[in-house]
Amino acid sequence: MIRVIILGHGMVANHLAVGIERIKQGELEPYGVPLAEYKLPYSIEDIDIVASYDVDQSIVGKSIYYAAKKALDSNIDIPRTLRDVYIREGIHLGSLEGMPIEAVGIEDKLGLNDALNALVDEWREYKPDIILNIITTEDGSPFNTLAKIKYTLENGTSNGISASQAYALAAALYARQVNPVAFINGIPMAIANDDAIVRFYEESGAVVFGDDGATGATPITADILEHMHNRNRHVKFIVQFNIGGNNDFLALTIPEKNKMKEKTKSSIVQDILGYDAPHYIKPTGYLEPLGDKKFISMLLEYKTFNGLTDELYIAGRINDSPAMAGGLVDLIRLGKIAIDNDIWGTVYEVNAFFMKKPGPSSAKSVSKIVAYYNLLKWLRALNAITISEDIGVPIEKMDW
Ligand SMILES: NC(=O)c1ccc[n+]([C@@H]2O[C@H](COP(=O)([O-])OP(=O)(O)OC[C@H]3O[C@@H](n4cnc5c(N)ncnc54)[C@H](O)[C@@H]3O)[C@@H](O)[C@H]2O)c1
Repeated sequence: MIRVIILGHGMVANHLAVGIERIKQGELEPYGVPLAEYKLPYSIEDIDIVASYDVDQSIVGKSIYYAAKKALDSNIDIPRTLRDVYIREGIHLGSLEGMPIEAVGIEDKLGLNDALNALVDEWREYKPDIILNIITTEDGSPFNTLAKIKYTLENGTSNGISASQAYALAAALYARQVNPVAFINGIPMAIANDDAIVRFYEESGAVVFGDDGATGATPITADILEHMHNRNRHVKFIVQFNIGGNNDFLALTIPEKNKMKEKTKSSIVQDILGYDAPHYIKPTGYLEPLGDKKFISMLLEYKTFNGLTDELYIAGRINDSPAMAGGLVDLIRLGKIAIDNDIWGTVYEVNAFFMKKPGPSSAKSVSKIVAYYNLLKWLRALNAITISEDIGVPIEKMDW
């Protein structure tokens, strides 16, 4: 069993909770879960969401069944088992500022120190193995030094720290006082890219994966860049944008939040090509009727043999939140595998495949195809992946 706590019960969380339950009930094939074909020590059915946290007053105190009914397409049948899991009040620290949502956080009443302790006490009861951060994209700067983390904990001062940073600290305190834990950071805030947090996690018996789940156009761009690099096609420029109509895109209309996302997206060009081809890679806009099915588009121009120029155009509509939720199913299982193997700090092999800005801060982005095979190697070294004829994995696929 893997016990999971979700922070931020929005679209991604709803798809994750509902998708896992539907797989458990045999209603769904696990398409979109990258490692579903392989046999890991934990199956998808082992995942148990024990609680969620949010600060949106319209869902705090309600069940995740209620939240899913409210947020998802009425064609999706919401499993009744989700009636028993509740959304509790989290730490706000201004993460929803500028959004049309009434938000309150426990630190408003308790102050930061007591709010962190209150979370740890609640988690003592829930006993999570995994704490999953998928709150609204927020602005913030890394701690960078252990001294700053310790100062924050000793003085209980929020001093400009973000909600994700507060949650990351609470998770480390929980690991010190209760159980080892994996913190998965699906959002652009630097957590696995903050060397101070990674050090603090090493000392605390915790592991962090991050930052910012790679789902829509960015992994496709990364793999196309690898293709260009392998064939020595010189990329002249790249344009990639996304327009969506969900709350995540609405949040990105706030300039500071968009800047955070841009930072995590554009590191791939220099890292994969080895030179910084001019690029425009951004979530560019919000258009409500698109809903959760975003419009992505990419244009790439490159020099080929004999001095000629080719152009590549890609366009698509991608269901945004389910793409992220499918990856999280594996990240949850990998988090538990890391804990079982006493791996603390962060794990580049996991981050490189699943994240837009893989930590630690010194790490480079590689294409997702390369990262995928490195991830399988990491799992094999831990004896945590086996060939299973009954699930029909072709043998050559395992021959990495
Ligand atoms: N494909 C994807 O959908 C994708 C890909 C990469 C990253 N992400 C990231 O995942 C996150 C979630 O995406 P989403 O589409 O579910 O967004 P969403 O807006 O639907 O959900 C975010 C939820 O977080 C809650 N929240 C905000 N501040 C909080 C806090 N301090 N504590 C607890 N809850 C808080 C909001 O009330 C909301 O319910 C975003 O930050 C996004 O950047 C999503």
